[in-house]
Amino acid sequence: MAELKVTAIREGTVIDHIPAGKGLKVIEILRLNRPNGGVLLLASNVHSGKLGRKDIVKIEGKFLSEEEVNKIALIAPTATVNIVRDYKVAEKFKVEIPDEITGILRCANPNCVSNHEYTVSKFYVVSREPLKVRCHYCERTMEEEEILRNL
Ligand code: CTP
Repeated sequence: MAELKVTAIREGTVIDHIPAGKGLKVIEILRLNRPNGGVLLLASNVHSGKLGRKDIVKIEGKFLSEEEVNKIALIAPTATVNIVRDYKVAEKFKVEIPDEITGILRCANPNCVSNHEYTVSKFYVVSREPLKVRCHYCERTMEEEEILRNL
């Protein structure tokens, strides 16, 4: 079988089926580019049956919070999260963009109240493809590029 072999991990998380080229952004928003002791693997532009090409991120010793999974969904809506325990995939799920996004995204409008008060940001997902959200406070809409810059 012509398949690229990337080292298996013992315990941790494998984020698979990331759109090609988005793996680094996933690492960036999870703040994994800081030394934290765990092994981090990125496979970029790997062959995939479903996507043509994909990225894979493997993080030894880390399990994701719901907030982190939601961030990944915004960057890589096709991603699959695999929880690995004792070298086996113990759990597998697809990420999903929620209907409402709270706390993880900054509003791009500098005058928005959510950028000035102790307010938790809140957005409504207007469209998933292409990605578009609307701020609950100032009604500004943000599209993919702006969303990625404000995560
Ligand atoms: N994986 C890993 N370390 C392990 C077990 C699995 O890094 N100990 C990785 C695999 O390399 C793969 C992902 O976790 O990228 C999912 O593993 P698995 O479910 O076995 O692969 P597939 O069946 O190909 O997954 P899918 O059906 O989601 O494409």
